[in-house]
Amino acid sequence: MNSTLRLAAAISLASLMPLSAFAAESKGSVEVVHWWTSGGEKAAVDVLKAQVEKDGFTWKDGAVAGGGGSTAMTVLKSRAVAGNPPGVAQIKGPDIQDWAATGLLDSDVLKDVAKQEKWDSLLDKKVADTVKYEGDYVAVPVNIHRINWLWINPEVFKKAGIDKAPTTLDEFYAAADKLKAAGFIPLAHGGQPWQDSTVFENVVLAVMGVEGYKKALVDLDEKALTGPEMVKALTELKKVATYMDPDGKGQDWNLEAAKVINGKAGMQIMGDWAKSEWTLAKKTAGKDYQCVPFPGTDKGFLYNIDSLAVFKQKNEGTTAGQQDIAKRVLGEDFQKTFSINKGSIPVRNDMLADMSKYGFDSCAQTAAKDFLADAKSGGLQPSMAHNMATTLAVQGAFFDVVTNYINDPKADPADAAKKLNAAVKAAQ
Ligand code: GAL
Repeated sequence: MNSTLRLAAAISLASLMPLSAFAAESKGSVEVVHWWTSGGEKAAVDVLKAQVEKDGFTWKDGAVAGGGGSTAMTVLKSRAVAGNPPGVAQIKGPDIQDWAATGLLDSDVLKDVAKQEKWDSLLDKKVADTVKYEGDYVAVPVNIHRINWLWINPEVFKKAGIDKAPTTLDEFYAAADKLKAAGFIPLAHGGQPWQDSTVFENVVLAVMGVEGYKKALVDLDEKALTGPEMVKALTELKKVATYMDPDGKGQDWNLEAAKVINGKAGMQIMGDWAKSEWTLAKKTAGKDYQCVPFPGTDKGFLYNIDSLAVFKQKNEGTTAGQQDIAKRVLGEDFQKTFSINKGSIPVRNDMLADMSKYGFDSCAQTAAKDFLADAKSGGLQPSMAHNMATTLAVQGAFFDVVTNYINDPKADPADAAKKLNAAVKAAQ
């Protein structure tokens, strides 16, 4: 037989044999719904995928594009209604309780893993409570993100004649004016509702302080929502908006991050998943870029915990896959590699207390230090824009009013504050 014939024979034989004769049999298949689709986010989630596959499971990727996850949540709801939820889905904050109350989440599947791996002692109580329902874990927390960051390109700052990162709103405006005058986009920003509200909550924290933020965006107190401080916050928000990228309407956050990385823009207000794009572009924190608390918010830490919830499934292979994911996610190796890629910090207390040991950069070390300190001082507050503070219905009310306010040239801040309160009340 000549070589061409030998190859043809091998191909025709191969096509008759089942795939399992060549690859090791999969132990089971798990579909994971998530919204980690930017380059940097994908690099992070690929760490988990590779591990799960190495453990012998098939990873079915249920990625749904759309920063902040609103689209992913819509897809998840329709999948659940159709009786076809995935094995695992990214769900956060109070929403986890709502899903658990429907009876669709599995409170048995994580019991043994949580006990064996001592989750109760690894996690802060506040974190553990978020992912427990009636005392049982229904989700595994993955990482912690901080929302109140300002990302700066120091090279651009230098070209615009700015010698230091702003620490107050006035300094922020002064820097933005200089950037504008030098021909740069002062503030990279994608005008999608979740991004608008990310900026809004940063400004609320800067103007109203930790207590005011809590009263207005966590407790949903009417006086705080309509009072003079909220009117002031909305007035400042309008001013911040004047520096936003004029081409940013509807733009994805990572495309806006790229403008800062490539030196077209000077700053971006974004949670620290923005760092995943800098890391992917091989840039170093403290040298090629700066991360500082959003001006006026250094006493607070708006937190956002990514979590993977487990849905009831009939297939034993899927259950084993869900347990494998849960076990890996809280392991030291994964906590380190994932967060380094993602821009977040680990969710494990022991690691948070010893960040330099794991090779985390200066931004992550600052975040961990502040997280631990602010947990004691009360400065640690859940992010409204990232599903940690309220139900999705209330969050939707904020999103609508804030985005309309930013886009309406005639909008009045006192009127917007009243609308905010009315919309929030109607959504409760
Ligand atoms: C957040 C999420 C992050 C990141 C970001 C942008 O809500 O917690 O992990 O993915 O959205 O999509």
